[in-house]
Amino acid sequence: MSAGRHLLQIRGLDRADVESFLELAEAHKRAHLEGRTLQPLRRRVVANLFFEDSTRTRSSFEIAARSLGADVLNWTARGSSMAKGETLLDTVRNIDAMGPSVMVIRHSSSGAAALVSRHVRASVVNAGDGTHEHPSQALLDAFTLREKLGTLEGKRVVIVGDILHSRVARSNAHCLRLLGAQVVLCGPLTMMPRGIEALGAEVAHDLDALLPDADAVMMLRIQLERQQAGLFPSPREYARLYGLNAHRAARLQKHAVILHPGPMNRGVEIANDVADGLQSAILDQVQNGVFVRRAILERCAA
Ligand code: CP
Repeated sequence: MSAGRHLLQIRGLDRADVESFLELAEAHKRAHLEGRTLQPLRRRVVANLFFEDSTRTRSSFEIAARSLGADVLNWTARGSSMAKGETLLDTVRNIDAMGPSVMVIRHSSSGAAALVSRHVRASVVNAGDGTHEHPSQALLDAFTLREKLGTLEGKRVVIVGDILHSRVARSNAHCLRLLGAQVVLCGPLTMMPRGIEALGAEVAHDLDALLPDADAVMMLRIQLERQQAGLFPSPREYARLYGLNAHRAARLQKHAVILHPGPMNRGVEIANDVADGLQSAILDQVQNGVFVRRAILERCAA
């Protein structure tokens, strides 16, 4: 085990660390299905600090913390004293002084969670920092894929979209490779960071050619706010080349799993009938997120 009391990134963890999060998440899911409650965080406080918007991550960390018996502080930058000029570090030090066991932090700057972890007593969980990593998302994706495919050993997972700006892609590439999967990163050249092969993933640009051999395909959100940067000509053109529509999805094997971390741009990176179709595991990802985040909170609060 090389994981410490924080969860800041997948990079640097070893396979045993990842397996142990997934096994604990499985135990939480089993307990839930059997109607048992495990409340190891009774009388502890989990602080959710979201400096950036979120639906899935914030809600599921809150549900996970409450179901573990913790009290939850849900703090958002909007409406806080940051509007009066209080800094990030002053903000987190003040909240730390109130005694939470765990701080869950989402921030638009890469490295923000790691910075905070050096200044507080609480354990810190990175809930997404800039374009760096989103470790809890990668763990819930791996959990969902293992549930659907049995194992990730030797499985081929294609991640499609704006790899350059995607913390989800980076965390997933590390996590899936640790579990033995072959990872292919696919997207337009303008959305591929230079040197991305260092992650140990294959890089490809022709999605149609990849689909017949894929065991899973993970569609990333196209960040429409980046369209000004000229990374793609238009949402319509992006959809034509990289959108997963029913025609393209028909090239997949029957067992192949379709993932999306959300929020989706329906009709751009994924069509309605594919997002809501039989091969989609998008809501399974969301449901499993609660069990995976229970495991993360339990482990980090220990
Ligand atoms: N997948 C994900 O991080 O979604 P939210 O931005 O809604 O938390």
